[in-house]
Amino acid sequence: MLLCHPWATAGQAVLINGASGGVGTSAVQIAKALGAEVTAVCSTRHAERVRALGADRVIDYTTADFTCEPGRYDVLLDLVGNRSLTACRRVLAPEGVFVSSAGAPGGNWLGPLMWIAKVVVTGLVVSQTMRPLLMRPRRADLEFLAGLAAEGKLRPVIERCHPLTAAAAAVGHVADGHAQGKTVIIVRDHPARTAPVRSAR
Ligand SMILES: NC(=O)c1ccc[n+]([C@@H]2O[C@H](COP(=O)([O-])OP(=O)(O)OC[C@H]3O[C@@H](n4cnc5c(N)ncnc54)[C@H](OP(=O)(O)O)[C@@H]3O)[C@@H](O)[C@H]2O)c1
Repeated sequence: MLLCHPWATAGQAVLINGASGGVGTSAVQIAKALGAEVTAVCSTRHAERVRALGADRVIDYTTADFTCEPGRYDVLLDLVGNRSLTACRRVLAPEGVFVSSAGAPGGNWLGPLMWIAKVVVTGLVVSQTMRPLLMRPRRADLEFLAGLAAEGKLRPVIERCHPLTAAAAAVGHVADGHAQGKTVIIVRDHPARTAPVRSAR
């Protein structure tokens, strides 16, 4: 997501809302590897983990609202969707980029579509770039990520591994919205793997 655009570069101020989840824990590491100054929004219980991934600054959403904090960001990656576009734009630089990977809070299936439409339409009338996150895998990006992984700069944060028989519980856990990294479902265990998979942190 950060790679698809030329804007997440060295020295850019990047804010990641939802930095402690499956996407956010990778986004923090990728943004740091690209040389950005990373501000992570997460709860108290995840603050140290997110700092350990490289975040320069943490905003605890249980005690502060990032849209009311001082500072302007070149890039705002929103993985939660709990703040209005107006509020998010308030902390975005005039030429900044807002990328949303989240649906608006609500619940029905129309919610995410309406949110995407709102992001796109808003982008037509403001100076900032407003984009929904639409992924198209590119070989160059995957090679870049493989390089980061090989250098130890990008490590998966795995919260739990579940057997396939517990898939429903695993999906339920992720759907609760409070995952602490990736949740893995093991479809077929590899015979060579004897030790349980643990979190990278
Ligand atoms: N996973 C994927 O591969 C994928 C791919 C494309 C798009 N997406 C979309 O990207 C979004 C994020 O996905 P995800 O997989 O990273 O989610 P996730 O793993 O379920 O993580 C959610 C994280 O958000 C945190 N959080 C909850 N409320 C928050 C708040 N108000 N402010 C800041 N952080 C908050 C939670 O931490 P606490 O427990 O501390 O609240 C949790 O760590 C979703 O909308 C998803 O649909 C995901």
